[in-house]
Amino acid sequence: MYYVGLDVGGTFVKGGIIDETGKILIKDSIPTGVGRPHSEIIKDWANFYLKLLADAGLSRAEVSGVGIGIPGTIDDETGVVAYANNFGWRQIPIRQEFSKWCDVEIHMGNDANCAALGETKFGAGKGYNNTVLFTLGTGVGAGIVIDGKLLLGNNSAGAEMGHMSIMMDGELCTCGRRGCIEAYASATALIRDTRRAIEKNPDTMMREVPLDEVNGKTCFDYARLGDKTAQEVVANYQRYLAEAIIDAVNIFRPEIVMIGGGVSYQGDYLLEPIRRMVDKYSYGGDINPRVVIQPATLGNDAGFIGAAALLMLN
Ligand code: BGC
Repeated sequence: MYYVGLDVGGTFVKGGIIDETGKILIKDSIPTGVGRPHSEIIKDWANFYLKLLADAGLSRAEVSGVGIGIPGTIDDETGVVAYANNFGWRQIPIRQEFSKWCDVEIHMGNDANCAALGETKFGAGKGYNNTVLFTLGTGVGAGIVIDGKLLLGNNSAGAEMGHMSIMMDGELCTCGRRGCIEAYASATALIRDTRRAIEKNPDTMMREVPLDEVNGKTCFDYARLGDKTAQEVVANYQRYLAEAIIDAVNIFRPEIVMIGGGVSYQGDYLLEPIRRMVDKYSYGGDINPRVVIQPATLGNDAGFIGAAALLMLN
């Protein structure tokens, strides 16, 4: 039996087919085209599902359905996206719309919850029972696996750790609140902070980079070259992320915290100072077992692999 997963992002829908060991048979992506009516967007998902099947040479009977990961509050029972801040969606009947175009079993979940499930079953979290994943992208997503099961909360609206506040009256978040982790630790926030630092510090080497070409790597590249301003941006970013991880550790005490998204490719350069802060400031310090902090290993595939894995739970 094979499993199809789709991971819906702000720019692309990534999709693929896996077997029960998480091995990828085929993967591809299509543009999301946000801003169009939801019915058109969802029709594209259905066509994408059919294309993946055709490209893999599989019949519908050989796949167990489709799993879909979407940012926001996604209720698998009703098949509805209750709320997605980054899409401006409220009460969108995904299962009903998708079923207009093809009749398959559909399961759905929050994108970061799917990534957490994928990483726990087949990636960095394999072998652990209690895991937390933060995905650092346009937003900050989080997924929590306790005793091998995703923690969803009422209406599946929980596990939104990107919207815990680390700064009273801080930066405005896309959710309307101020000071959220997302407003400090997302790639979007890192780019904002890098640009601000460039504007404020005329002697930084980062000036070579036009402001509209600054990305999530810029401050890391220049910090490694010894640029003080860049090092400060990186150090602040590490503190924000450490605060977020310490909060997660104090609540859930996972065995491992996994970090996904482009920033995680900075590896130990990003994570070593964070590990030291987490060791020092987590409740109980070194009395409690040390929490492993590692980059996620499935990269951009985690979301669709985890979405496909939803089908294995049902
Ligand atoms: C949303 C989450 C989502 C995350 C990553 C956040 O802004 O609130 O639901 O998981 O972005 O896409």
